[in-house]
Amino acid sequence: AGNTTLTMIKPGAVRRNLIGPILGMITEHGFKVEALKLTKLSARQAAKFYEVHRGKPFYDGLVNYMSSGPIVAAIIRKDNAVAEFRELIGNTDPEKASEGTIRKLFAESLSHNAVHGSDSDENAAKEAAFFFSETERFCPEEWH
Ligand code: CMP
Repeated sequence: AGNTTLTMIKPGAVRRNLIGPILGMITEHGFKVEALKLTKLSARQAAKFYEVHRGKPFYDGLVNYMSSGPIVAAIIRKDNAVAEFRELIGNTDPEKASEGTIRKLFAESLSHNAVHGSDSDENAAKEAAFFFSETERFCPEEWH
């Protein structure tokens, strides 16, 4: 398994001032930050990021929401990162998420679910490249 995944703190969570608590949970669970930025997606960029969901009933709403305000994007590193991070964030639907998970604690709803996490190593690599160039990545083993 790969050792990095891509996360976004979504616009609603940034708006509710949850950047610190969410990054705190991520680092407390042993993830190292390899790249980090506060940025905003245009509707076109959000449409591209989520193009695997194009055609689904929630797609337009998802694109609209994800381009509605600033987000935090990060590449985070830990052994078996994709699976470990999906466990930490919990079910996509916060009503189904386990106690203590980021979505259980911070998500408002299925569509406003606080954070994104890559669902495979292949998508993690694509999503990391979507947000970050090589010079914006700092391997924790080398620098932390
Ligand atoms: P995320 O991990 O960012 O990946 C796609 C997002 O689409 C997902 O989190 C949810 O926020 C959203 N999503 C998935 N399924 C639905 C749905 N049935 N209705 C509304 N939003 C959804």
